[in-house]
Amino acid sequence: MSTQNRPLHIILIVFVLVVMLFIATWTVAAQDDASDAETGDEVTVEVAEVQTCAECHIDVVADWQDSVHATAFQTEGFQHAVAEGLDSSCLECHATGYSPVTGEIAAEGVTCEACHGTTPENHPEEPVPVLNGIDVCAECHLTTYHEWQVSPHGAENMPCTTCHDPHPQQIRFESNNALCLDCHGDDVLTGFAHETHTENECTDCHWHRGEFDTQAHLVTGALSPTGHEGDVETLACTTCHENQEEYLASREAGAEMVTASRVDIAELEAEVASVRAQGENSSAVHLIQGIVVGIALGGILVLLMSRLRPGRFDRRSN
Ligand code: HEC
Ligand code: HEC
Ligand code: HEC
Ligand code: HEC
Ligand code: HEC
Ligand code: HEC
Ligand code: HEC
Ligand code: HEC
Repeated sequence: MSTQNRPLHIILIVFVLVVMLFIATWTVAAQDDASDAETGDEVTVEVAEVQTCAECHIDVVADWQDSVHATAFQTEGFQHAVAEGLDSSCLECHATGYSPVTGEIAAEGVTCEACHGTTPENHPEEPVPVLNGIDVCAECHLTTYHEWQVSPHGAENMPCTTCHDPHPQQIRFESNNALCLDCHGDDVLTGFAHETHTENECTDCHWHRGEFDTQAHLVTGALSPTGHEGDVETLACTTCHENQEEYLASREAGAEMVTASRVDIAELEAEVASVRAQGENSSAVHLIQGIVVGIALGGILVLLMSRLRPGRFDRRSN
């Protein structure tokens, strides 16, 4: 390259730099505009209302802000349904103050008003209603409410808010086990099922819930069971033990499914015999007998399924 071209090169480089700088500034400005527009969209009437509560209830608003309730309208899944032209009945639960007559909503998501009603003008002089944490939840969680009604906790009329913090919607304890063991002492953890599953969460067996059936929900708004009866159903056991590989992994290497099940059942029978011999109370014996029958049936079911539908387990574990 000749030295004559150097000034030209420099001019070119400077020109390219200027263009790049211009593009960069322009992009950043455009992004600023876009994010302004986004936050502009978010600051709708309803958020403004929650903001007024935040003046005095900053901790409650902070807890609520990131909850599934606050975002129940904004989630990708729900927005997708909106784009598809959702059935307006969805708004009864995913929005606040839906009026079937006008089709209007007071706010997106489950806001303070959904649970506390309209705040009086002269609050805090006049109190805001605080509901009992049962009926207010039942309005939208009817399936769970019905489960709770027949549960030992429902029989004690224990509000949902005993276990769930109403604002962040999480369990009030750092783990499910800590929650259960806060009321139920370790002394309940006797018997075969408890003693062989010390690593499991109480909710794996007592709060068994299937997969949330999103498809059914998107079509009809129907809610899936959430296991709040507190019963231990056979399904809870088979959900884990249906998985052949996992089950076998807990057994000796290379064991056959049939042999493994037989060994388990034999062990359980021995367990029942020894409990009987120790003259334990009959309820414990019934429990273990129940488990034996459950395992036997479960085992047979698993075997049948593994034979009839080869490949099923492989798919499940993926
Ligand atoms: C009776 C109250 C109720 C109605 C009516 C309702 N939902 Fe839901 N929806 C819920 C609850 C509660 C959950 C959370 C369920 C769970 O995890 O157990 C949920 C979860 C969802 C989810 C998955 C979570 C998310 O936000 O991405 C979507 C999507 C959804 N609903 C869309 C809809 C659509 C569409 C309709 C109308 C056909 C509808 N819902 C009607 C209460 C309701
Ligand atoms: C899902 C329903 C629900 C929503 C949404 C909700 N609350 Fe509550 N709130 C309750 C219930 C139930 C109680 C009673 C607490 C209890 O039983 O322990 C309560 C109690 C309160 C209390 C008094 C006790 C406390 O925790 O300080 C305040 C204040 C309050 N709510 C403010 C708000 C504000 C502000 C919002 C909106 C950001 C809000 N709530 C949203 C259900 C709700
Ligand atoms: C000017 C401050 C202020 C604002 C704004 C405010 N509150 Fe309160 N709120 C209070 C005070 C003070 C109490 C009484 C607290 C206490 O005794 O624990 C209270 C109590 C409550 C309670 C408990 C029941 C009661 O009334 O004693 C609820 C629920 C509640 N507020 C909801 C709301 C909601 C929802 C909003 C927004 C729409 C809101 N508050 C806005 C000051 C405020
Ligand atoms: C206005 C309707 C409405 C009310 C009232 C309501 N919820 Fe919800 N709740 C919902 C919806 C909708 C969702 C699902 C949001 C999502 O996943 O996008 C939900 C989600 C939940 C979840 C989380 C579910 C999950 O799959 O993670 C819990 C827990 C919950 N609610 C408990 C409560 C309790 C406790 C109360 C009463 C204090 C209550 N809710 C009152 C509509 C409501
Ligand atoms: C004895 C404690 C307790 C009581 C009472 C209780 N719950 Fe729960 N709830 C739990 C636990 C534990 C979970 C599981 C949380 C997890 O693993 O994510 C749960 C989960 C949920 C879920 C989410 C279900 C899912 O599939 O993810 C909803 C919704 C819910 N509860 C609503 C309610 C309502 C409504 C009531 C009152 C009618 C209630 N709960 C009463 C302990 C309780
Ligand atoms: C706030 C206290 C409290 C919490 C938290 C609690 N329970 Fe309970 N539970 C009770 C009471 C009270 C009863 C009814 C009296 C009894 O039978 O012990 C009960 C009954 C039960 C029963 C029936 C006992 C029987 O003898 O038939 C089971 C099972 C149970 N709870 C499991 C759980 C599990 C699992 C959790 C955690 C998700 C949990 N509980 C959380 C208080 C609690
Ligand atoms: C592997 C499954 C499993 C796990 C995990 C489990 N349980 Fe159980 N639990 C059972 C079975 C089975 C029963 C017998 C009663 C039944 O069929 O409902 C039972 C009974 C109970 C009872 C009633 C006891 C009685 O005397 O009638 C309580 C309370 C209880 N469990 C609490 C807990 C708590 C708390 C945890 C967690 C620390 C837990 N369980 C974990 C399976 C389990
Ligand atoms: C969350 C998953 C899970 C659930 C739910 C579950 N199990 Fe298990 N189970 C396991 C695992 C993992 C092992 C292996 C534990 C070990 O070897 O220490 C096991 C071991 C066993 C064994 C063999 C014990 C041994 O000493 O070899 C039996 C029998 C059994 N479970 C029965 C049940 C019954 C009955 C239920 C329902 C009440 C149940 N399981 C619920 C995961 C589960």
